[in-house]
Amino acid sequence: MRKQDWQPNRKSDIPIYIQIKEYIKEKIAIGEWPIGTRLPSQRKLALLFTVNRSTVVEAYEELIAEGLVEGIEGKETKVINNTWNIVASATPDWESYVKGSTYKPNKVFIQRINEAEFLGETIRMGTGELSPSLLPIKKTNQILSSLTLSSEHLGYEEAKGSYPLRVAICKYIRKSGVNASPDSVLIVSGALQAFQLIANGLLKEKSSILVESPSYLFSLNVFQSAKMNLIDVPISKIKNQVSILKTLKAQHQANLLYTIPTFHNPTGMTYSTEERKGIVDICRSNQLPIIEDDVYRELWIDSPPPQAMKSMDQTGNILYLGSASKILSPGLRIGWIVGPEVVVNQLADLKMQIDYGASSFSQAVLEKWFTNEDMYEEHVYHIRSELKQRRDFMMELLEKYFSRFASWEVPTGSFYVWVKFNKSISLSQLFDLALKQHILINPGTVYRENGPSYIRLSYSYESLEKMEHGIKTLAKIVKGIR
Ligand SMILES: Cc1ncc(COP(=O)(O)O)c(C=O)c1O
Repeated sequence: MRKQDWQPNRKSDIPIYIQIKEYIKEKIAIGEWPIGTRLPSQRKLALLFTVNRSTVVEAYEELIAEGLVEGIEGKETKVINNTWNIVASATPDWESYVKGSTYKPNKVFIQRINEAEFLGETIRMGTGELSPSLLPIKKTNQILSSLTLSSEHLGYEEAKGSYPLRVAICKYIRKSGVNASPDSVLIVSGALQAFQLIANGLLKEKSSILVESPSYLFSLNVFQSAKMNLIDVPISKIKNQVSILKTLKAQHQANLLYTIPTFHNPTGMTYSTEERKGIVDICRSNQLPIIEDDVYRELWIDSPPPQAMKSMDQTGNILYLGSASKILSPGLRIGWIVGPEVVVNQLADLKMQIDYGASSFSQAVLEKWFTNEDMYEEHVYHIRSELKQRRDFMMELLEKYFSRFASWEVPTGSFYVWVKFNKSISLSQLFDLALKQHILINPGTVYRENGPSYIRLSYSYESLEKMEHGIKTLAKIVKGIR
């Protein structure tokens, strides 16, 4: 549900709770919310319709009185009948289908973040995307007008994706020291899909994946849904005692190491060349393949990062992931996997079974972007200087409003500041209180369950004014709950 879908009419003579009741009845009547459906929480509807929670309670009470829904243990409200008075058994129990899925739902915080991002007036203080004002709309329009449509753009592409795009990607990644030929590149529908393909196409159930802690990967359930385990390895351990990887590989019979070595999400950390070498060497000698997730590489602010770990790989031990999402457009949904052909062929075959390839049209647009090097470089330069300005401003704000109760490191690239509170605080309380004031944060528990209290802030998405308002308000809330 989005805010734009429906709103009560405040000028109407019909009381708002009745309008909400009728809206829900309509959803039940047309089968969008069949019997068994859990209604949204009162808190969520109140936020969505900008009404008091008591108004939603009244609407729900009316629906209960009419026998359409019932409250269960004061926690949730379920549809138990429909307006056509069809007996319950005539409707499939979709809720039990949903619950029976082998695919795990997102973490609750992630679900709430995904919803709140589209509530309209939300100030998104944790979002890991370029601000709408930084998306290259004008330049992409130029690209579109120079694109002469051909049958390939409107048809299916070959299994590994558009050949000209794969050629362009090989040239593009050469800047990071990666030598690859188009046959070893698979175009995917965003780097996120690479995880899905690797989980389903390369690994067995009960496989174990070593993952830096904290990590973006813990915010997803892709590997867990495929009945695999993520084993967390503190980043400080990897940096200071790389032999831990050998120990953990043996202890857990680990099958892979997943790492974000450049402008890591959420910490912003970047491994030095020496550290990269150490990791690559120990993984190679212990037959522990690596997934190197390099989606943030281009977003350096102070100085270019070391070359990719993949550039040090002579034995095909590394699967290298890239994406157009963070530098150009997440909406294109284009990423890539570079690896040994046996792997790429297998994942390409699986991808054909899943979706017949990423959008041909998006692939053509990205190919034009990559081959129009001057335009691309101009864009990247612009993004870096904007990010620098935003990063510097965020540092000033944090210094001014957060320094008494939190600490952080100055990020040298990408979007994020990993902010640590000096004392442990309730992140769910902070999240709720902030959201009440339309401010959305990413609690650190999304990326690491235990340990000190952190939040991930981002300086890439909101305008400077909104960033300032967001930080000031957050500081007040934190002081109130400490
Ligand atoms: C480290 C990392 N990898 C992959 C992704 C997913 O990127 P894509 O939009 O290409 O699926 C993200 C998105 O936030 C990310 O932070």
